[in-house]
Amino acid sequence: MPKLTVNNKSYLVNAEPDTPLLWVLREELGLTGTKFGCGGGHCGACTVHVNGEAVRSCQLRIDDVYGTFVTTIEGLSSGNNHPVQKAWIDNQVPQCGYCHSGQIMQAVSFLRNNPSPSDEEIQGAMRGNLCRCMTYKRINTAIRAVVDSDEITEV
Ligand code: FES
Ligand code: FES
Repeated sequence: MPKLTVNNKSYLVNAEPDTPLLWVLREELGLTGTKFGCGGGHCGACTVHVNGEAVRSCQLRIDDVYGTFVTTIEGLSSGNNHPVQKAWIDNQVPQCGYCHSGQIMQAVSFLRNNPSPSDEEIQGAMRGNLCRCMTYKRINTAIRAVVDSDEITEV
């Protein structure tokens, strides 16, 4: 069986090659922090990192991610203390919470690539991650708080 590396742990995976990564994460590995939203690549609820870059796990075949490093919200930090997670908590960003593991994974990947973004760049980077509860303003505020803090170097 092929091996999948998730959150620095190796797993033997028993899945058809075209099974979406999202299904393997949730159903086989029990990593249910990553959410199913649309299943079509449109909402961002399923966002995880592959080799540090934000991707939509509903759109990736498991066969295409063997040999990569996958990170889910469960592996982002120990104790929910990543600077972006702390900013989410400080700014009470979530409402129902369903979209926010995807939102956070998107924000972390974006800030690694652009540690001092403008407000417009933040909005542009997060535009593809949908929130039915309309928490967009608090998402932008939390990301701005990380950018303006000393903790941006740890992202
Ligand atoms: S569930 Fe993957 S983008 Fe919506
Ligand atoms: S907080 Fe409910 S969908 Fe975003």
